[in-house]
Amino acid sequence: MPELLKPTLSPTPYLIKRPRRNRKTVAIRDLVQETFLRPSQLVAPLFIVEGTNQQIPISSMPDVFRYSLDLLLKEVIQLYALGIRAIDLFPVIAAEKKDAKGSESLNPNALLYKTIKAIKQEVPDMCVMVDVALDPFTDHGHDGLVDASGRITNDNTLDVLAQMSVLAAEFGADVIAPSDMMDGRVAHIRHALDANGFSEVNILSYAAKYASSLYGPFRDALSSAPKFGDKKTYQMNPANSREALLECNLDEEEGADMLLIKPAMLYLDIIAKVRAQTHLPIGGYQVSGEYAMLKAAAERGWIDENRAFLESLLSIRRAGADFIFTYAAAKVAKLLTLS
Ligand code: PBG
Repeated sequence: MPELLKPTLSPTPYLIKRPRRNRKTVAIRDLVQETFLRPSQLVAPLFIVEGTNQQIPISSMPDVFRYSLDLLLKEVIQLYALGIRAIDLFPVIAAEKKDAKGSESLNPNALLYKTIKAIKQEVPDMCVMVDVALDPFTDHGHDGLVDASGRITNDNTLDVLAQMSVLAAEFGADVIAPSDMMDGRVAHIRHALDANGFSEVNILSYAAKYASSLYGPFRDALSSAPKFGDKKTYQMNPANSREALLECNLDEEEGADMLLIKPAMLYLDIIAKVRAQTHLPIGGYQVSGEYAMLKAAAERGWIDENRAFLESLLSIRRAGADFIFTYAAAKVAKLLTLS
């Protein structure tokens, strides 16, 4: 062999460690896989509207619909068949039923409560979570009550949230998920639930919820965008991570059973840090804007939709989340059962 074609450097003994050996075949790759995604780890957020036979699209959330109760029940049966074991309910409230106090949230005849009851009758093993906050119900779109000077007030909001939680529990909710970010709401809700005989109802607190730009499509779905100001006096500054640990600590001390980090995809570092400080189960919420970004890029053919969703959810699990809220739950559950 001519001198020039000889390798200049023998790979051995310099490369004793070759990580590629563990990626050689499908079998070995599967053997060393660290993180898994299962349908039972997914929570499907569902939007409910009044009426019958309604399946109303949301333009900023392709393939996500607002369902009337009759069709919602069919959807829940399908989700269960796909291996999904938890849903989270969001009611769309007609403008004429919204007011400054969010009174409809405490109306026992409201759509939300009817829906909880019907789902628990139809699919009793489905875990029904209820998002507790006032924004779908208030005409100003804020998560809490507002005083004369336009401030979102904390302590009197807690009473409404606690009453709403007790109502949801009475109608059969398994898990109360407060998403309002008021101080002290976990303790307040826990106390109210226990005092009313619901000590077995869980609290999943949206413990670290950021004032994110990525909730827009969700607010389109519920027509719940704030009519004045923003949510920065209660939702967290995206620049902060220590504050998330503080929020999670407080909610744990107040009696939260599970902690939620939201958004998830842009806040994987927060999930990992919270994982390191708590023994509670953690959820990540792949929010509407994160869903919309993936769908939009896929629609343009710029990314492969199925692979991108699987990878994004696996990443949230890898960061340390036990379960994930995602609008792609049904789609992903199907992919997981096929693979
Ligand atoms: C209500 C609530 C919001 C979301 C979940 N619960 C909106 C908000 O805080 O403005 C956002 C979910 C999403 O964007 O997917 N408090």
